[in-house]
Amino acid sequence: MDGNGRWAKNKGLARSLGHEAGVKTLMSIMKNCFTLGVKYVTVYAFSTENWNRPKEEVDALIQLFRNYFSNYFSKITKKGIKINVWGDKSKFPQDVIDSISKIENSFVDKPKGVFNIALNYGGRKEIIDAVNTAIKNGKELDEKEFSSLLYSSSVPDPDLIIRTGGEYRLSNFLLFQSAYSELFFTKTLWPDFNNDELVMIFNEFANRERRFGKVK
Ligand code: FPP
Repeated sequence: MDGNGRWAKNKGLARSLGHEAGVKTLMSIMKNCFTLGVKYVTVYAFSTENWNRPKEEVDALIQLFRNYFSNYFSKITKKGIKINVWGDKSKFPQDVIDSISKIENSFVDKPKGVFNIALNYGGRKEIIDAVNTAIKNGKELDEKEFSSLLYSSSVPDPDLIIRTGGEYRLSNFLLFQSAYSELFFTKTLWPDFNNDELVMIFNEFANRERRFGKVK
């Protein structure tokens, strides 16, 4: 969800207002994804590197997480969407950790979809943590067993990864899981991303030939 800061700057607003606009886009796109039949939606909301941003911006993001986890996300789980948080939650204030746990532990009977939020997440850290767990367990692993040590253990690898904001890189997102993902990059700044562009990308995805290293 890249481009919140530039979106705000272009309008002469504080960066934090870009994130506020970004979370509204997130809610709308997430709902549209499930309506269109996507079963698993994962978003990169805060990276392990984002702590290095100005304190004011980090505080504003934490306040957004506080509001949504203590309030809005319970409505989503009641509508049959299971929410998981991927990353090291221990670095957030205790009240935010508590509301995240409450949302993650909400029982969702026969979920219609799964919404994963990467928070204080880094792909390299995820892999290193899994390697260290494997070493502690003292047993060689195959790819499937290794995957089961990642945050994403309960969901399939992503078919499609979309990055907004005009940068052409993964920035430490799902490094192991993205091995065969189709990648889409758009210059649209995240708060301006809308359902029409989402559907356009899904249509292009449907026309891509996925060979998974084989010959068709
Ligand atoms: C990257 O844009 C975006 C982020 C670091 C934060 C994304 C977070 C949200 C949209 C809020 C999510 C909220 C919840 C409750 C899950 P940027 O700031 O790097 O933009 P720039 O490249 O234009 O500066």
